[in-house]
Amino acid sequence: MIKGNFPTEKFMNLRTPLYYYNVELLHKTLDIVKSESSKHDYKIHYAVKANSNRRILSIIAQHGLGADCVSGGEIKIAIESGFNPRKIVFAGIGKADWEINFALDANIQCFNVESLAELHVINELASAKGKIAPVALRVNPDVDAYTHAKITTGTKENKFGINLSQLDEVLDIMPSLSSISFAGLHFHIGSQITSLEVFKRLTLKVNEILTDIEAKNIFVPIVNFGGGLGIDYGHPNHLAIPDFEQYFNIIAENFDRRPSQEVHFEPGRSIVGQCGTLISKVLYVKEGEVKKFAILDAGFTELIRPAMYDSCHHIENATSDGEPESYDIVGPVCESSDVFAKDFKLNACTRGDIIALRSAGAYGEVMASSYNCRELPHSYFSDMI
Ligand code: LLP
Repeated sequence: MIKGNFPTEKFMNLRTPLYYYNVELLHKTLDIVKSESSKHDYKIHYAVKANSNRRILSIIAQHGLGADCVSGGEIKIAIESGFNPRKIVFAGIGKADWEINFALDANIQCFNVESLAELHVINELASAKGKIAPVALRVNPDVDAYTHAKITTGTKENKFGINLSQLDEVLDIMPSLSSISFAGLHFHIGSQITSLEVFKRLTLKVNEILTDIEAKNIFVPIVNFGGGLGIDYGHPNHLAIPDFEQYFNIIAENFDRRPSQEVHFEPGRSIVGQCGTLISKVLYVKEGEVKKFAILDAGFTELIRPAMYDSCHHIENATSDGEPESYDIVGPVCESSDVFAKDFKLNACTRGDIIALRSAGAYGEVMASSYNCRELPHSYFSDMI
Protein backbone atom coordinates (compact mmCIF):
# COMPACT_ATOMS: atom_id res chain seq x y z
CA MET A 1 0.00 0.00 0.00
CA ILE A 2 1.53 3.30 -1.11
CA LYS A 3 -0.08 6.61 -0.22
CA GLY A 4 0.66 10.29 0.26
CA ASN A 5 1.88 12.82 -2.24
CA PHE A 6 5.49 11.65 -2.29
CA PRO A 7 7.36 9.49 -4.78
CA THR A 8 7.30 6.75 -2.14
CA GLU A 9 8.31 3.96 -4.51
CA LYS A 10 11.50 5.81 -5.37
CA PHE A 11 12.36 6.22 -1.68
CA MET A 12 12.26 2.43 -1.28
CA ASN A 13 15.38 2.09 -3.40
CA LEU A 14 17.22 5.05 -1.91
CA ARG A 15 19.36 5.12 1.16
CA THR A 16 17.43 6.72 4.00
CA PRO A 17 17.18 8.93 6.01
CA LEU A 18 16.93 11.61 3.33
CA TYR A 19 15.40 15.03 2.91
CA TYR A 20 12.78 15.46 0.21
CA TYR A 21 11.81 18.95 -0.97
CA ASN A 22 8.60 19.85 -2.78
CA VAL A 23 9.98 22.46 -5.17
CA GLU A 24 6.56 23.38 -6.60
CA LEU A 25 5.33 24.30 -3.11
CA LEU A 26 8.44 26.41 -2.53
CA HIS A 27 7.85 28.31 -5.79
CA LYS A 28 4.18 28.86 -4.91
CA THR A 29 5.08 30.08 -1.43
CA LEU A 30 7.64 32.51 -2.84
CA ASP A 31 5.13 33.82 -5.41
CA ILE A 32 2.70 34.58 -2.59
CA VAL A 33 5.35 36.17 -0.37
CA LYS A 34 6.30 38.43 -3.27
CA SER A 35 2.78 39.40 -4.29
CA GLU A 36 1.61 40.06 -0.71
CA SER A 37 4.72 41.99 0.33
CA SER A 38 4.74 44.11 -2.82
CA LYS A 39 1.22 45.36 -2.00
CA HIS A 40 2.85 47.24 0.86
CA ASP A 41 6.23 47.80 -0.76
CA TYR A 42 7.89 45.61 1.90
CA LYS A 43 11.37 44.20 1.28
CA ILE A 44 11.99 40.55 2.14
CA HIS A 45 15.30 39.03 3.23
CA TYR A 46 15.08 35.25 3.56
CA ALA A 47 16.62 34.02 6.86
CA VAL A 48 19.31 31.70 5.49
CA LYS A 49 19.68 29.92 8.85
CA ALA A 50 16.31 28.19 8.32
CA ASN A 51 17.66 26.18 5.38
CA SER A 52 20.92 26.77 3.56
CA ASN A 53 20.70 23.85 1.13
CA ARG A 54 22.29 25.27 -2.05
CA ARG A 55 19.41 24.31 -4.36
CA ILE A 56 16.85 25.86 -1.98
CA LEU A 57 18.94 29.02 -1.72
CA SER A 58 19.32 29.33 -5.47
CA ILE A 59 15.54 29.03 -5.97
CA ILE A 60 14.90 31.73 -3.37
CA ALA A 61 17.59 33.96 -4.92
CA GLN A 62 16.00 33.51 -8.38
CA HIS A 63 12.78 34.93 -6.97
CA GLY A 64 14.69 38.12 -6.17
CA LEU A 65 14.58 38.02 -2.36
CA GLY A 66 17.40 39.35 -0.23
CA ALA A 67 19.20 37.28 2.43
CA ASP A 68 19.42 37.62 6.20
CA CYS A 69 22.70 36.03 7.30
CA VAL A 70 24.19 35.36 10.73
CA SER A 71 27.72 34.30 9.87
CA GLY A 72 30.49 34.81 7.33
CA GLY A 73 29.73 31.29 6.08
CA GLU A 74 26.10 32.20 5.42
CA ILE A 75 27.11 35.36 3.55
CA LYS A 76 29.48 33.31 1.42
CA ILE A 77 26.95 30.61 0.52
CA ALA A 78 24.24 33.24 -0.11
CA ILE A 79 26.48 35.07 -2.62
CA GLU A 80 27.53 31.78 -4.25
CA SER A 81 23.85 30.84 -4.58
CA GLY A 82 23.03 34.02 -6.45
CA PHE A 83 21.88 36.53 -3.82
CA ASN A 84 22.85 40.11 -4.58
CA PRO A 85 25.29 41.28 -1.86
CA ARG A 86 23.48 44.64 -1.84
CA LYS A 87 20.45 42.72 -0.56
CA ILE A 88 22.29 40.92 2.26
CA VAL A 89 21.91 41.93 5.89
CA PHE A 90 24.19 40.55 8.58
CA ALA A 91 22.87 39.94 12.12
CA GLY A 92 24.18 38.10 15.19
CA ILE A 93 25.53 39.05 18.59
CA GLY A 94 29.01 37.62 18.06
CA LYS A 95 30.41 38.69 14.72
CA ALA A 96 34.12 37.80 14.49
CA ASP A 97 36.56 40.27 12.93
CA TRP A 98 37.09 38.11 9.83
CA GLU A 99 33.32 37.96 9.31
CA ILE A 100 32.96 41.73 9.56
CA ASN A 101 35.87 42.22 7.14
CA PHE A 102 34.38 39.67 4.75
CA ALA A 103 31.01 41.46 4.84
CA LEU A 104 32.70 44.85 4.31
CA ASP A 105 34.61 43.50 1.31
CA ALA A 106 31.38 42.07 -0.12
CA ASN A 107 29.67 45.50 0.25
CA ILE A 108 26.59 44.06 1.93
CA GLN A 109 23.50 46.18 2.48
CA CYS A 110 23.63 46.50 6.25
CA PHE A 111 25.01 45.20 9.55
CA ASN A 112 22.38 44.58 12.23
CA VAL A 113 24.34 45.54 15.33
CA GLU A 114 23.51 44.16 18.75
CA SER A 115 25.82 46.02 21.19
CA LEU A 116 27.90 49.16 21.66
CA ALA A 117 31.05 47.04 21.83
CA GLU A 118 30.30 45.59 18.40
CA LEU A 119 29.56 49.03 16.97
CA HIS A 120 33.06 50.23 17.94
CA VAL A 121 34.71 47.21 16.31
CA ILE A 122 32.77 47.62 13.05
CA ASN A 123 33.69 51.31 13.02
CA GLU A 124 37.40 50.49 13.45
CA LEU A 125 37.45 47.74 10.82
CA ALA A 126 35.50 49.87 8.30
CA SER A 127 37.82 52.81 8.95
CA ALA A 128 40.89 50.62 8.27
CA LYS A 129 39.40 49.85 4.85
CA GLY A 130 38.39 53.46 4.19
CA LYS A 131 34.74 52.38 4.06
CA ILE A 132 31.52 53.51 5.68
CA ALA A 133 29.53 50.61 7.15
CA PRO A 134 25.73 50.94 7.05
CA VAL A 135 24.42 49.90 10.45
CA ALA A 136 20.93 49.14 11.78
CA LEU A 137 20.59 48.80 15.53
CA ARG A 138 18.90 45.64 16.72
CA VAL A 139 16.67 46.72 19.55
CA ASN A 140 15.31 44.37 22.18
CA PRO A 141 11.77 45.76 22.55
CA ASP A 142 10.83 43.60 25.55
CA VAL A 143 7.80 42.08 23.83
CA ASP A 144 6.98 38.47 24.69
CA ALA A 145 6.48 36.26 21.62
CA TYR A 146 4.60 33.54 23.56
CA THR A 147 6.57 30.80 21.89
CA HIS A 148 8.96 28.10 23.19
CA ALA A 149 11.50 29.57 25.66
CA LYS A 150 14.42 28.40 23.49
CA ILE A 151 13.21 30.45 20.52
CA THR A 152 12.15 33.62 22.37
CA THR A 153 14.54 36.48 21.67
CA GLY A 154 12.84 39.79 22.44
CA THR A 155 12.58 39.97 26.22
CA LYS A 156 14.99 41.53 28.73
CA GLU A 157 16.28 38.09 29.78
CA ASN A 158 17.53 37.31 26.25
CA LYS A 159 21.05 37.99 25.02
CA PHE A 160 19.83 39.63 21.82
CA GLY A 161 19.66 43.29 20.83
CA ILE A 162 20.29 46.58 22.58
CA ASN A 163 18.01 47.10 25.57
CA LEU A 164 15.63 50.04 25.28
CA SER A 165 17.17 51.71 28.36
CA GLN A 166 20.57 51.77 26.56
CA LEU A 167 19.37 52.83 23.12
CA ASP A 168 19.68 56.59 23.77
CA GLU A 169 23.32 56.24 24.76
CA VAL A 170 24.13 54.26 21.60
CA LEU A 171 22.31 56.77 19.38
CA ASP A 172 24.21 59.63 21.04
CA ILE A 173 27.57 57.97 20.41
CA MET A 174 26.90 56.99 16.78
CA PRO A 175 27.58 60.40 15.16
CA SER A 176 31.11 60.36 16.61
CA LEU A 177 31.87 57.07 14.82
CA SER A 178 32.92 58.35 11.43
CA SER A 179 33.01 55.03 9.58
CA ILE A 180 29.42 54.09 10.34
CA SER A 181 26.15 55.34 8.90
CA PHE A 182 22.79 54.88 10.61
CA ALA A 183 20.56 52.69 8.42
CA GLY A 184 17.69 52.02 10.79
CA LEU A 185 16.27 49.75 13.48
CA HIS A 186 15.96 45.98 13.58
CA PHE A 187 13.60 43.87 15.69
CA HIS A 188 13.17 40.10 15.94
CA ILE A 189 11.33 38.81 18.99
CA GLY A 190 11.19 35.08 18.36
CA SER A 191 10.28 32.23 16.08
CA GLN A 192 7.24 29.98 15.46
CA ILE A 193 4.90 32.78 16.53
CA THR A 194 1.34 31.61 15.90
CA SER A 195 -0.66 34.56 17.22
CA LEU A 196 -0.81 37.62 14.96
CA GLU A 197 -1.68 39.60 18.09
CA VAL A 198 2.00 39.30 19.06
CA PHE A 199 3.03 41.08 15.83
CA LYS A 200 0.45 43.78 16.55
CA ARG A 201 1.99 44.36 20.00
CA LEU A 202 5.47 44.49 18.47
CA THR A 203 4.28 47.06 15.90
CA LEU A 204 2.70 49.29 18.54
CA LYS A 205 5.93 49.14 20.55
CA VAL A 206 7.94 50.03 17.45
CA ASN A 207 5.71 53.09 16.94
CA GLU A 208 6.54 54.30 20.45
CA ILE A 209 10.26 53.73 19.95
CA LEU A 210 10.23 55.66 16.65
CA THR A 211 8.43 58.59 18.25
CA ASP A 212 11.08 58.75 21.00
CA ILE A 213 13.91 58.62 18.49
CA GLU A 214 12.40 61.28 16.26
CA ALA A 215 12.25 63.59 19.26
CA LYS A 216 16.07 63.58 18.94
CA ASN A 217 15.72 64.71 15.31
CA ILE A 218 16.85 61.36 13.96
CA PHE A 219 15.09 59.89 10.92
CA VAL A 220 14.96 56.09 10.81
CA PRO A 221 15.37 55.08 7.13
CA ILE A 222 14.69 51.33 7.57
CA VAL A 223 12.47 49.51 10.04
CA ASN A 224 13.08 45.74 10.03
CA PHE A 225 10.44 43.60 11.77
CA GLY A 226 12.57 40.41 11.61
CA GLY A 227 10.98 37.00 11.08
CA GLY A 228 9.02 34.66 13.29
CA LEU A 229 5.77 33.83 11.48
CA GLY A 230 4.83 30.30 12.53
CA ILE A 231 3.62 27.32 10.50
CA ASP A 232 1.00 24.65 11.21
CA TYR A 233 2.99 21.59 12.29
CA GLY A 234 -0.16 19.64 13.15
CA HIS A 235 -1.73 19.99 9.69
CA PRO A 236 0.97 20.32 7.05
CA ASN A 237 -1.46 19.90 4.13
CA HIS A 238 -3.97 22.43 5.37
CA LEU A 239 -2.62 25.98 4.95
CA ALA A 240 0.65 24.63 3.52
CA ILE A 241 1.38 28.26 2.69
CA PRO A 242 1.18 30.48 5.79
CA ASP A 243 -1.21 33.42 5.71
CA PHE A 244 1.23 36.09 4.54
CA GLU A 245 -1.65 38.37 3.56
CA GLN A 246 -2.93 38.66 7.13
CA TYR A 247 0.57 38.85 8.55
CA PHE A 248 1.61 41.80 6.39
CA ASN A 249 -1.80 43.42 6.86
CA ILE A 250 -1.59 43.38 10.64
CA ILE A 251 1.71 45.23 10.47
CA ALA A 252 0.44 47.67 7.82
CA GLU A 253 -2.73 48.43 9.80
CA ASN A 254 -0.83 49.21 12.99
CA PHE A 255 2.47 50.68 11.87
CA ASP A 256 2.82 54.47 11.66
CA ARG A 257 5.10 54.30 8.67
CA ARG A 258 6.90 57.55 7.84
CA PRO A 259 7.15 58.78 4.24
CA SER A 260 10.09 57.23 2.40
CA GLN A 261 10.67 54.73 5.22
CA GLU A 262 11.66 51.24 4.04
CA VAL A 263 10.09 48.26 5.81
CA HIS A 264 11.96 44.95 5.91
CA PHE A 265 11.10 41.39 6.99
CA GLU A 266 13.27 38.29 7.53
CA PRO A 267 11.05 35.20 7.26
CA GLY A 268 12.74 31.81 7.40
CA ARG A 269 10.48 29.01 8.63
CA SER A 270 7.33 30.38 6.94
CA ILE A 271 9.04 30.17 3.52
CA VAL A 272 10.72 26.76 3.67
CA GLY A 273 9.09 24.89 6.57
CA GLN A 274 6.32 23.03 4.76
CA CYS A 275 8.24 22.16 1.59
CA GLY A 276 10.62 19.76 3.36
CA THR A 277 9.99 16.21 4.61
CA LEU A 278 12.38 13.89 6.38
CA ILE A 279 11.99 10.43 4.86
CA SER A 280 12.96 7.47 6.98
CA LYS A 281 12.43 3.72 7.16
CA VAL A 282 11.28 1.52 10.02
CA LEU A 283 14.21 -0.60 11.14
CA TYR A 284 12.49 -2.54 13.88
CA VAL A 285 9.22 -2.67 15.76
CA LYS A 286 10.01 -3.42 19.38
CA GLU A 287 7.39 -4.56 21.86
CA GLY A 288 8.30 -3.16 25.28
CA GLU A 289 6.50 -4.05 28.51
CA VAL A 290 4.36 -0.93 28.47
CA LYS A 291 5.12 0.56 25.07
CA LYS A 292 5.50 -0.32 21.47
CA PHE A 293 8.45 1.36 19.75
CA ALA A 294 8.80 2.10 16.06
CA ILE A 295 12.57 2.40 15.65
CA LEU A 296 13.48 4.50 12.62
CA ASP A 297 16.73 4.90 10.72
CA ALA A 298 16.42 8.69 11.30
CA GLY A 299 17.23 10.21 14.64
CA PHE A 300 17.85 13.58 16.23
CA THR A 301 20.98 13.71 14.14
CA GLU A 302 18.71 14.42 11.13
CA LEU A 303 15.92 16.32 12.90
CA ILE A 304 16.75 17.76 16.29
CA ARG A 305 13.64 19.90 16.76
CA PRO A 306 11.58 17.42 18.85
CA ALA A 307 14.51 16.77 21.22
CA MET A 308 15.51 20.41 21.46
CA TYR A 309 12.25 22.38 21.35
CA ASP A 310 9.67 19.69 22.22
CA SER A 311 8.24 20.18 18.75
CA CYS A 312 5.61 17.81 17.32
CA HIS A 313 6.01 17.03 13.64
CA HIS A 314 3.20 15.26 11.85
CA ILE A 315 4.35 11.71 11.05
CA GLU A 316 2.88 9.38 8.40
CA ASN A 317 3.45 5.78 7.45
CA ALA A 318 3.45 6.05 3.65
CA THR A 319 3.48 2.30 3.01
CA SER A 320 0.80 0.95 5.31
CA ASP A 321 -2.97 1.20 5.66
CA GLY A 322 -2.97 -1.24 8.57
CA GLU A 323 -5.11 -0.50 11.64
CA PRO A 324 -3.55 2.53 13.43
CA GLU A 325 -1.54 1.64 16.51
CA SER A 326 0.10 3.71 19.20
CA TYR A 327 3.90 3.93 19.02
CA ASP A 328 6.75 5.80 20.57
CA ILE A 329 8.56 6.81 17.40
CA VAL A 330 12.26 6.84 18.11
CA GLY A 331 15.63 7.08 16.40
CA PRO A 332 18.78 4.95 16.64
CA VAL A 333 20.96 7.50 18.47
CA CYS A 334 22.26 6.37 21.86
CA GLU A 335 20.39 8.97 23.90
CA SER A 336 17.00 8.82 25.63
CA SER A 337 16.05 12.15 24.09
CA ASP A 338 16.17 10.64 20.59
CA VAL A 339 12.39 10.49 20.37
CA PHE A 340 10.26 12.03 17.62
CA ALA A 341 6.88 11.43 19.25
CA LYS A 342 5.33 9.50 22.13
CA ASP A 343 2.09 7.52 21.93
CA PHE A 344 1.65 8.60 18.33
CA LYS A 345 -0.90 6.78 16.17
CA LEU A 346 0.56 5.37 12.96
CA ASN A 347 -0.82 2.85 10.52
CA ALA A 348 0.56 -0.50 11.73
CA CYS A 349 4.32 -0.55 11.13
CA THR A 350 6.51 -3.31 9.83
CA ARG A 351 10.21 -3.36 9.04
CA GLY A 352 10.98 -1.39 5.87
CA ASP A 353 7.92 0.89 5.97
CA ILE A 354 8.55 4.42 4.70
CA ILE A 355 7.90 7.03 7.38
CA ALA A 356 7.50 10.70 6.50
CA LEU A 357 8.23 13.36 9.12
CA ARG A 358 6.50 16.43 7.76
CA SER A 359 7.15 20.19 8.04
CA ALA A 360 10.89 19.59 8.27
CA GLY A 361 12.04 22.14 5.68
CA ALA A 362 13.07 24.72 8.27
CA TYR A 363 15.75 24.03 10.88
CA GLY A 364 15.85 20.37 9.78
CA GLU A 365 18.61 19.47 7.35
CA VAL A 366 20.51 22.59 8.33
CA MET A 367 20.76 21.45 11.96
CA ALA A 368 21.75 17.88 11.13
CA SER A 369 24.90 16.55 12.78
CA SER A 370 27.20 13.59 12.39
CA TYR A 371 27.02 12.63 16.08
CA ASN A 372 27.62 8.89 16.54
CA CYS A 373 29.66 9.12 13.29
CA ARG A 374 26.43 9.11 11.32
CA GLU A 375 26.47 10.32 7.73
CA LEU A 376 24.73 13.58 6.91
CA PRO A 377 21.48 13.01 4.98
CA HIS A 378 21.26 13.56 1.22
CA SER A 379 18.59 15.80 -0.25
CA TYR A 380 16.26 15.15 -3.20
CA PHE A 381 13.93 17.51 -5.05
CA SER A 382 10.48 16.87 -6.48
CA ASP A 383 11.49 18.09 -9.94
CA MET A 384 14.71 16.04 -10.11
CA ILE A 385 13.96 12.70 -8.50
N1 LLP B 1 15.82 37.07 11.96
C1 LLP B 1 16.56 36.79 13.04
C2 LLP B 1 17.41 37.83 13.61
C3 LLP B 1 16.52 35.50 13.62
O1 LLP B 1 17.26 35.25 14.69
C4 LLP B 1 15.69 34.51 13.05
C5 LLP B 1 15.62 33.16 13.62
C6 LLP B 1 14.93 34.84 11.91
C7 LLP B 1 15.01 36.14 11.40
C8 LLP B 1 14.03 33.84 11.21
O2 LLP B 1 13.00 33.45 12.02
P1 LLP B 1 11.82 32.51 11.46
O3 LLP B 1 11.03 33.30 10.43
O4 LLP B 1 12.44 31.33 10.85
O5 LLP B 1 11.01 32.18 12.66
N2 LLP B 1 16.00 26.33 15.38
C9 LLP B 1 14.76 26.86 15.91
C10 LLP B 1 14.46 28.25 15.40
C11 LLP B 1 15.56 29.25 15.67
C12 LLP B 1 15.26 30.62 15.14
C13 LLP B 1 16.48 31.48 15.19
N3 LLP B 1 16.30 32.80 14.64
C14 LLP B 1 13.63 25.89 15.57
O6 LLP B 1 13.88 24.84 14.99
O7 LLP B 1 12.47 26.13 15.92
